[in-house]
Amino acid sequence: MAVESPIQRDEFSSNTEDAALALVRLLGTDLVLCGPEVERYCRDWHGDVTTGAVAVVRPRSTLEVSEAVRAIRSLGLQIVPQGGNTGLVLGGTPDQPASQVVVSLERMTAIRRIDADDFSAVVEAGVILSEFKDRVEEAGLYFPLALGAQGSCRIGGNVSTNAGGINVLRYGMTRELVLGLEVVLPDGSIFEGLSTLRKDNRGIDLKQLFIGAEGTLGIITAVAFKLAPPAEKVATALLGLGALSDAITLYRRARRDCCDLMSAFEFMPPVAFTLAQEAMPDLSLPMSGDYPAYVLMEISGSGLVDIDDLMQRFLEGVMEDGLVLDGVIASSRSQAKGLWLFREGMNEGQAKRGAHLRTDVSVPLSRLPEFVEKAEAEIAARLPDCLCVSYGHVGDGNVHLNVLPPGGLTREDVAQRIYTAKGIVNAVLDGFGGSISAEHGIGRLKKPDFLARVPPTQLQLLTAIKQAIDPAGIMNPGCQLNSGADS
Ligand code: FAD
Ligand code: LAC
Ligand code: ZN
Repeated sequence: MAVESPIQRDEFSSNTEDAALALVRLLGTDLVLCGPEVERYCRDWHGDVTTGAVAVVRPRSTLEVSEAVRAIRSLGLQIVPQGGNTGLVLGGTPDQPASQVVVSLERMTAIRRIDADDFSAVVEAGVILSEFKDRVEEAGLYFPLALGAQGSCRIGGNVSTNAGGINVLRYGMTRELVLGLEVVLPDGSIFEGLSTLRKDNRGIDLKQLFIGAEGTLGIITAVAFKLAPPAEKVATALLGLGALSDAITLYRRARRDCCDLMSAFEFMPPVAFTLAQEAMPDLSLPMSGDYPAYVLMEISGSGLVDIDDLMQRFLEGVMEDGLVLDGVIASSRSQAKGLWLFREGMNEGQAKRGAHLRTDVSVPLSRLPEFVEKAEAEIAARLPDCLCVSYGHVGDGNVHLNVLPPGGLTREDVAQRIYTAKGIVNAVLDGFGGSISAEHGIGRLKKPDFLARVPPTQLQLLTAIKQAIDPAGIMNPGCQLNSGADS
């Protein structure tokens, strides 16, 4: 990698405007946004945190990304890559406004290729996930990554966070869908790895370093993905259960009875419906009774398999055995969409209630109910006025155990409750050998919790990789590790 000699950071950090003007001089007004327009790139999805940046650079091609990286670097500034800015851990918003430049991929929106015979596609980093999914469907195939933010998040962000979502139990995390990557490295050179080969065992697989790196090693500009056969037939059911622990037994049973055709198995608490209706008042409750736990389950397939019959027979069996107390099977795509709105609406409902603790933890699948019960009991004992909302991806042992303070508290009291709740969840989690980040990443938000737990040998390796690829520490400093080169 060619290393240029950067201008000393101090020369500019005292004067953000000068730095922005210098950037405009190097890259032109076409690429650089300054002033008030910068603000919307510096606010996180929940609106909890607003920062600032020297400027926002919006390249339209891989070459322009490379030029932007060289220019930013030559000014002694640093880069915060950004996609759809839906990340929930503050990885894509700056924390040093006087020296950081947001590089937004939002204008790199070409789908370069969809190849039906190769079951693959090559897509640029700025394409919105749902748009890519639609285009793949039009080509008669299926791209399985699916998450609540899919109408806003972008492919580069998905790969950089190794996003999970609702279909992981069948198709894996984003990492498992990536065949190749194109990445602009911190010195402006281009890692050209957009191969669509399925088998390629030529030593260490370098692209893996950038997946889940949250923009700390380079800027992903394009991705080669593997695609799946179309999910022509989908059966969706909402099930009422007597206890969360029944969800684990039910999951095991579903994996046995539905083979590999199960594509989603999510759990929700009863309060999910209230929260969803707060965000989407037109939603009507799909069941008459109230149950302690709910599962939203989907099986899908194509070709000769009778998906509807499979779902019907599966439900008859588990209801006969008392594992499921009540169930609704969607009879059309739009009804299925309606059921999923409860799952999506509950996120929005929580956001509407204001600042709260959001977690994204994983535990061994079999211990998920025990974990939820223990953590919720400890929170109820120490923070009796808070509401626990635990939901997530049963098949992945992934729980979002969120804690919502009551309305009417001061900002300080809210912050205090969030802090206490986080301590409780993490302490219980450590006892279960769990992970503090199942699918959202580390970002800036989880860095202290991550660094407090990462074993020294792993930290040494991570630091060595960072040092090797980004010795000047210009890529997303403050995200994941302490501050780039010297972390
Ligand atoms: P951003 O937020 O813009 O960036 C995320 C990180 O990636 C940052 O560190 C950024 O610097 C880096 N980055 C972005 N683009 C690039 C690039 N081109 N090159 C290098 N680095 C880059 N996540 C899940 O895993 N599963 C879910 O089920 C899920 N559900 C969600 C539901 C809602 C309502 C919301 C708001 C979020 C949800 N998320 C979920 C989190 C989020 O949508 C994902 O993390 C998503 O992958 C982020 O994509 P983005 O384009 O918004 O990335
Ligand atoms: C979800 C996000 C929060 O599963 O990961 O809804
Ligand atoms: Zn999730």
